[in-house]
Amino acid sequence: MKDLEGIKILDFTHVQSGPTCTQLLAWFGADVIKVERPGVGDATRGQLRDIPDVDSLYFTMLNHNKRSVTLNSKSEKGKEILTKFIEECDVMVENFAPGALDRMGFPWERIQEINPRMIYASIKGFGPGAYEDCKVYENVAQCAGGAASTTGMLGSVPTVTGAQIGDSGTGLHLALGIVTALFHREKSGRGQRVTAAMQDGVLNLCRVKLRDQQRLASGALREYSQFGDGIPFGDATPRAGNDSGGGQPGRILRCKGWESDPDSYTYFITQAAVWGNICDVIGKPEWAEDEKFATPDARLPRLNEVFETIEAWTMTKTKFEVMEICNPLNIPVGPILSMKELAEDPSLRKTETVVEVDHPQRGSYLSVGCPIKLSDSVVEVERSPLLGEHTEEILQEVVGLSEDEIAEAKKAGAI
Ligand code: COA
Repeated sequence: MKDLEGIKILDFTHVQSGPTCTQLLAWFGADVIKVERPGVGDATRGQLRDIPDVDSLYFTMLNHNKRSVTLNSKSEKGKEILTKFIEECDVMVENFAPGALDRMGFPWERIQEINPRMIYASIKGFGPGAYEDCKVYENVAQCAGGAASTTGMLGSVPTVTGAQIGDSGTGLHLALGIVTALFHREKSGRGQRVTAAMQDGVLNLCRVKLRDQQRLASGALREYSQFGDGIPFGDATPRAGNDSGGGQPGRILRCKGWESDPDSYTYFITQAAVWGNICDVIGKPEWAEDEKFATPDARLPRLNEVFETIEAWTMTKTKFEVMEICNPLNIPVGPILSMKELAEDPSLRKTETVVEVDHPQRGSYLSVGCPIKLSDSVVEVERSPLLGEHTEEILQEVVGLSEDEIAEAKKAGAI
C-alpha cells in the first residue's frame, strides 16, 4: 500500500513550483489529477523542447505519476464539472498568478462551501503585503528572498544559484503543509487553507544569512574570507563567495586537471576536530603545534594562507583522489560533480535518485526520482501523462459523468 493512497488531489499547478509539490504527493501514492486547459496544457509542455512536437523534458521531469484531464474551468459547463471535482477531491493545489481562481469564481469561501473537508493549497510569489499581487518566477524569488544578495563573489554582482530554491524549494514547503493539513483533518474533520510564498521559502533556506545579519552588530564575521583580507564589513550580510556557511571554514580548491576541466575542483572543510590530520596530509605537520595555526581562532585571520597551502596539495590530486585520501582520515571534502557525472553515477542509479523512464513520444529519458526514501513505501517513478490522456476515465470515475454527458461537455468545448 502507498502511504497517500485514497487521497485525490485536484492539481491546478503549472510550470515548476506547484508541479514539484504534487509530484512528491503522487510519488507517495496520492491520485494526482492534473487539470489543464484543452488544447494548451501546462505551458512547460512546449518550453525548451529538445524534440519537435513532443512534451519537453521540463514538463516530463516535473509531472511523473500524475493523470491529466483537460478542462476549461472558465466555461459554464467547465465550472459545473469543477464544482463536482471539488466535491470529490481531498486537496486542491494551484500556483496561478494572484487572484486567478477567484476570477474563475472559486474563492476559498466558495470552495469551503462546496466541500468543508477540502484542503486548498497555493504557492504565490509573495505573502500578504506590498507585493502580494505580483507574478513571480524562480530568479525573482531568489532575489527577493535574500539568496542573490548573499551569493556570488565579494565586489561582484548578486548571483542566482542553479538550485531551484524558489520553485522546487517552495514546492517542498507546500507539500509538507498539505500533509500536515491532512493529518489535522483526520482529527478535526475540517479542511484548511495552506499557503507558501516563494519569498518566504527562499528566506527560510537563507536562514543562516539572517543569522549573520544579526551577528554583524557584534563585529566582523571572522569566518568570511573578507575578514582575513582586511576588507571592512558593511551593514548587511555580504556575498561570501565559496566560504562555508557554518563554523568550520571551507573553500572550493583546484584539483589536478583544472586547467582543462571546468569541474576539477573539490570542496575542502578545515574541520577543527581533524586539523592534525589535515596538517599531516598537506605536508605541514608542524602547523598542528604552531600557535599561528593550531587553533580555529588563530587560523581565522590566516585562512588565505591555509587554503593556498591546502590547494597546493589538492592540485597534485584529482578530485576523486582527494576524496579517497581524506575520507579515511575523517576530513570532510567533496568533489564538484558535473551534471554529466551525476547522470552516470552508479550509486544514484541504484537508489533510483536518477532513473530512466520510458515515454511513448520521446522514448527513454533520465529523470530525478524521489529524493525522500521511506523504508515501507517504495516509490515507482512513472512517466508524465500526455495532455488530456485520462480525461474520459477521470470524468467517469471521479466525477461520475456518463458517456453522453462527456460528449456534451466536449461539444461545449469544456473538456
Ligand atoms: N481553464 C481556464 N483558464 C485557465 C485554466 C483552465 N484549465 N488554467 C489556467 N487558466 C487561466 C488562469 O485562470 C489565468 O487567467 P486570468 O489571468 O484571466 O485569471 C490564465 O490562465 C493564466 O494564468 P497565470 O497563472 O496568470 O499564468 P501566467 O503565464 O500569466 O503567469 C506565473 C505564470 C508563474 C508568473 C504565475 O502563474 C505566478 O506568478 N504564479 C505564482 C507564483 C509561482 O508559482 N511562480 C513560479 C512558477 S514556476
